[in-house]
Amino acid sequence: MLSKKIGIDLGTSTVLVYVKGEGIVVNEPALMATDERGVRVLAIGRAASELLGRGGKARAIRPVRDGDGVDYGAAGAMVQHLIGRIVGRQRIFRPDVMLSVPPMVTGVERRAVLEATMHAGAKSAYLIDKPMAAAIGARVPVATTDGILVVNLGAGSTDVVAIAQGEMLALESIRIGGESLDRAIEEAVAATHGVRLLPGEAERFKVATGSATEPAADAWLELAAADGEGQALRLRLSGKEVQRAIQEPLLAIVAGLQRVMAQVTEDRRLSLKRNGAILTGGGAQLPGIAEFLTAHAGVPTRVARDPQSCVAVGTGMALDNLQVIRRGQHYIT
Ligand SMILES: Nc1ncnc2c1ncn2[C@@H]1O[C@H](COP(=O)(O)OP(=O)(O)O)[C@@H](O)[C@H]1O
Ligand SMILES: [Mg+2]
Repeated sequence: MLSKKIGIDLGTSTVLVYVKGEGIVVNEPALMATDERGVRVLAIGRAASELLGRGGKARAIRPVRDGDGVDYGAAGAMVQHLIGRIVGRQRIFRPDVMLSVPPMVTGVERRAVLEATMHAGAKSAYLIDKPMAAAIGARVPVATTDGILVVNLGAGSTDVVAIAQGEMLALESIRIGGESLDRAIEEAVAATHGVRLLPGEAERFKVATGSATEPAADAWLELAAADGEGQALRLRLSGKEVQRAIQEPLLAIVAGLQRVMAQVTEDRRLSLKRNGAILTGGGAQLPGIAEFLTAHAGVPTRVARDPQSCVAVGTGMALDNLQVIRRGQHYIT
């Protein structure tokens, strides 16, 4: 195989790169460090987060911001660095690159991303909608299914789609994601304990001890917080307390699922209820989330294998299956 086939999932919080025959080769913060003027790229991914953590004058840039906006210049620079890392200096065998994009991205913006990718050194560049890539990566037979729901839980947003016969029939993009759960935990702690959790602590609790459903036994974790005067203190937080705090954002995802169900025909709705929903994205790793959605949305729900990688894997897999994106999508060869 001379030209590599590369799938890139550039998310709000994470960038993943899948190379055909190699698997996931990059899983790092979707972050770039530039010089003060934002012109020269100093580092990307983990190296960028380390560089920025050391202080100094470097500027932090997130190419994909919460839910909607994409900074195309920054995204292009990031893709260029990623391609460089994978194919090295040799540019004789330029790679085929597929990028996943949020479904709300417009035609003009799609063209900008494609051009940036070509400019970054791709032989051919293609785009696929994130939820479709998530379904493919979750090994859903997208071309033949008579109706399945896919819920991709990212950091800044959640996409809920109904897919049948290779098409997205209905879509809801919700501005609720993993970060909304972190905010809900911070707000609950402020309201009940009168203290502020330090940055990253709510997420740390969520990942270590969080649960969407009532935990059988309660668990505690000690977190770093600050009081009203900014004085540092430690706070012991209960899993049950956190579970209550995240109910509201989780119910917003249920509402999104129900709106998608309401958009399709009665026949399709029956298929969706039979085949159920599959959860992808980092947020799908929250224990109990499948049970929560099954109970509240009334559709059998399961978590995909390795949910955080599904979009990247599906994006790469789609390069071998271009008919799934040729329909109604923009592409350049
Ligand atoms: N074990 C876990 N439990 C709950 N949430 C998690 C877990 N692991 C990661 N997350 C959350 O998943 C989100 C990141 O998911 P990801 O799909 O990588 O986002 P994006 O595609 O927007 O970059 C973050 O909000 C993170 O806190
Ligand atoms: Mg993601």
